[in-house]
Order: sequence, then structure tokens, then C-alpha cells
Amino acid sequence: MNLLELKGVHTHIGAYHILHGVDLVVPQGQVTMLLGRNGAGKSTTLRTVMGLWHASQGRVVLAGQDITAAATPHIAALGVAYVPENMGIFADLTVRENMLLAARAARRAEQMDAGRLQWIFKMFPAVEKFWNHPAGKLSGGQKQMLVVARAIVEPRQLLIVDEPSKGLAPAIIDNMIDAFAELKAQGVTILLVEQNLNFARRLGDSVAVMDNGRVVHAGAMEAFSADAALQQSLLGLAL
Ligand SMILES: Nc1ncnc2c1ncn2[C@@H]1O[C@H](COP(=O)(O)OP(=O)(O)O)[C@@H](O)[C@H]1O
Ligand SMILES: [Mg+2]
Repeated sequence: MNLLELKGVHTHIGAYHILHGVDLVVPQGQVTMLLGRNGAGKSTTLRTVMGLWHASQGRVVLAGQDITAAATPHIAALGVAYVPENMGIFADLTVRENMLLAARAARRAEQMDAGRLQWIFKMFPAVEKFWNHPAGKLSGGQKQMLVVARAIVEPRQLLIVDEPSKGLAPAIIDNMIDAFAELKAQGVTILLVEQNLNFARRLGDSVAVMDNGRVVHAGAMEAFSADAALQQSLLGLAL
């Protein structure tokens, strides 16, 4: 079953026609990688799913429900978490306060689901270690961990992340891969935009490649990852 489906989605930003009929499926319980050159329309696609842009044509369907015209808070309330590119954390607030801001149901840290917090701490030890420290003190990799931790502070059915590995050192990328694999093991469906082909290959079950505002290839990651000529022609680079 597909948790998320985009059917012929067109998105305009002002006078610009950015998405030209995006067809994309995100199967339930899997990790789907959205790849493509800079400017292909990946971030615009994610923003259209989240209702930050609205499709001028086509449909966005979440678990069988049409969310094409839905407002962002409604989409979030349906259990979709979104981590935008270069997502700012609140540098002057502590890690705990950053997490608390994302936990809509909790007013105080003591009200956050304790079991869930322990699970998050296990995936992202830096979140626990720096719990009472200003988030601005974290390294780049730790900040990236914090934004993902913040996105899952409440149970989610779909996690959407725009370029989680950007600017991260290889060791941190390994931790990030482990964390996403753990989320998947817990039943979270994941849609990731990635530039790092190696990261994409290690985590992805399926892949969709965008070019010029369309999905130009979709299929199993295994087949894509074995086909250097296809990677070269779609991305201009190969593993
Ligand atoms: N706010 C905006 N205003 C005008 N054009 C935009 C805006 N955001 C993105 N674009 C354009 O839309 C195209 C797709 O951008 P984007 O979705 O960010 O691509 P990607 O994430 O694949 O790099 C690019 O040509 C970009 O310049
Ligand atoms: Mg982008």
C-alpha cells in the first residue's frame, strides 16, 4: 500500500511553473529516496506535500485522503513530520526547550512521553548529553540530529526530510543512517531528499529521480544502485 501518492502534480511559485506533473509513490513502511540535480524540484515537491505550496493541478493523497488543498497544520496533525533544508534550531534555547516546542501535547518536559524520549536518546545520544545546554553549542552534525529528533518527538506515520546528510562528516552520516533505519524498523514511513548517492543507496528501498519538475525514473533502489550508466545519465554522476 502507498502511504503517499502524488498524481500529476503541477506547482507554480508566483509566475514560475516549477513542477510539471510529478508522479510519485511512497510505499508504507519503506524508505523512499528522492534524488535529482540541483533545481530539479525536489524541495518544491516536499513543500507541496506539506501544503506550503499548493498544487495548481493534480492530487496529493495521504493514506487514501486527498490533502491537495489541506493547510500545513492539518497535514502535520495527520502525522506527517517535515524537516526542511537548513532547518534552524533555536540556538539560545536549550536542547530540552527545542524538543518541548515540537511536542504539541506537552507543556513541560515532564509531560513528554518518557519511553519515547528514551528511544530518541538511544538514537541520538547528543540530545540527551546536551539536554540542558543551549542548542547553539551543538556541532553541525548534532544540530542535524536535534532537528530529526524534534520532528519525531511525537509519533508520526510519515517523516519527510530534505537533505539530512548535507555538510555532515562520514561518521555522523553513519549515525544518521542508523537512526533512520531504527525509525523504519519502528514502522515510520520515510521520504528523504538526498544528494549523497552512497547515503541514498544504503538506506533507500525505492528511488525516484527528478529532472525539470518531473519524476523521470522510479523503481527499486537495488536496481538503480547497480546501474552506473543510469545514474550517470540521470544525475551526472555515478557510484
Ligand atoms: N521561492 C521560489 N521562487 C522562485 N523560484 C523558486 C523558488 N523556490 C524554488 N524555485 C525554483 O524552482 C526550481 C526547483 O527548485 P527546488 O525545488 O528548490 O529544487 P531542488 O530542491 O531539487 O534543488 C529551481 O529552478 C528554483 O530556482
Ligand atoms: Mg532542495
